[in-house]
Amino acid sequence: MASTNSPDRVHIFDTTLRDGEQSPGISLNTREKVEIAQQLARLGVDVIEAGFPITSPGDFEAVQEISRNVEGPVICGLARTHKADIDAAWGAIKDAPRARIHTFISTSDIHIEHQLQTTRDDVKGQARAAVALAKSYTDDIEFSPMDATRAEVEFTAEVCAIAVEEGAIVVNIPDTVGYTTPEEYRRYFEELYRLAPDLRDVRLSVHCHDDLGLAVANSYAGTLAGARQVECAVNGIGERAGNCSLEEIVMLLRTRRDEHGLDTGIDTREIARTSRMVSRFTGYPVQPNKAVVGRNAFAHESGIHQDGVLKERTTYEIMDATEVGLDSNRIVLGKHSGRHALRDALEELGFKVEGQALNHAFKRFKEIADKKKQVTALDLEAIASDEVRERSERYALAWFDVEASSRREPHAKVAVTLPSGEERVGEGSGDGPVDAIFGAIQKAVEVECELRQYTVTAVTEGDDALGEVTVMLRAGGHLASGQGVSTDILEASARAYIRALSNALEGAAIREAEAATADAASEPATPGP
Ligand code: KIV
Ligand code: ZN
Repeated sequence: MASTNSPDRVHIFDTTLRDGEQSPGISLNTREKVEIAQQLARLGVDVIEAGFPITSPGDFEAVQEISRNVEGPVICGLARTHKADIDAAWGAIKDAPRARIHTFISTSDIHIEHQLQTTRDDVKGQARAAVALAKSYTDDIEFSPMDATRAEVEFTAEVCAIAVEEGAIVVNIPDTVGYTTPEEYRRYFEELYRLAPDLRDVRLSVHCHDDLGLAVANSYAGTLAGARQVECAVNGIGERAGNCSLEEIVMLLRTRRDEHGLDTGIDTREIARTSRMVSRFTGYPVQPNKAVVGRNAFAHESGIHQDGVLKERTTYEIMDATEVGLDSNRIVLGKHSGRHALRDALEELGFKVEGQALNHAFKRFKEIADKKKQVTALDLEAIASDEVRERSERYALAWFDVEASSRREPHAKVAVTLPSGEERVGEGSGDGPVDAIFGAIQKAVEVECELRQYTVTAVTEGDDALGEVTVMLRAGGHLASGQGVSTDILEASARAYIRALSNALEGAAIREAEAATADAASEPATPGP
């Protein structure tokens, strides 16, 4: 593995918690964000962009908690060029052992005229002032000319040169709307180096969106042109079609090292687990044929391929599943395992569970171990992730009854514990038992919900596998997701629905509070890039 400052080392800047979190329906709370950040640290990313602190008190708090509790990577906070943004970013990250402020302003005329409604001269002035202010807080400053790939390269070079003059040590060239092509992006870098030679003294970075499905290819082209930082997100989540997928660019650099000589500091064996965690917490499933982490990424269907792989794995596999951590489902616990064994196993999987949380997890484990013969690492991971979400709920499932038949309309009765501790029962009928349960929950909580997505997956293979349900719904004007895990799909569905509902109502309440604060300050409530 190339050392941090070696010329062949590509730094991985993870923006799952910032750009990734801007995907519709994702509503991570602080605890979940810290959990993901800790896993990103185990994965070995160089930088975690933990959030955009000015956007909300919740975002500020999450960035601050990550800065205080996550060791290893540089912790970065995003800021527009406004003084208030930079002050907020610094306020949130200043406790991190290594902290970075990432400030940005657009250089494309389309953004300058229509969005910023200002002039090129003003953009230059804002970039200069922002980097200078950020530099008064910390040395580690990153500057991004947003929408650079649709901007005139001469102007972008001028603005980047100003940022470097003021002390930026990383200059990121975003393909904000996923418009560029690998060849064009490479030429853009060459031009930037020619027009602003001082860029050779700083680390150039790529940040590519996937609107045309080229985010990984463009990021790769950027590294071939000299960029030594890639901004990416786990499972490729992010605005619109998403960002460059972390696992794909990392495995591309690793697998084709023969071609370019570059590598990252990522512990690739942590990739699969990180992907599962992000998918669970965000409610964004991974498509089965997704490169590197999809369920079928290492599956061989045709007889010829199976035959080849049995004879010699490399006949049809360019990567080894063990290299990305897909081999880690050894059996860890059985029905008679005790609390200590559970705690140790969870710790080995990266979850620190103590006190009440451990008691709760142990109870869940016993229930599952009673139904399943063996509890595997993947099962434990699903239970532990479920526990992280459990404590953040407004509402909780108390119990349910369902009558299902092909001759009568299914009917459900569900008891939900409200935030006040009161238990409310609702009844409902529907097209099937799941629909009846969802209807009964709505009656119990007296909130209208619009179901947007419902998916069921098996955590492991086999008849006794745990089922994992993801629900995405809209309630209170807010879109949110929730997951539930159980050996019983109906129970998992009820849990997932109640969590999604809790998250949506929490999101709606936060949005309302933000709007009130923004009204008072007459600033846009969510200054998303
Ligand atoms: O896509 C983009 O341009 C961004 C910037 C803030 C880097 O996300
Ligand atoms: Zn972006």
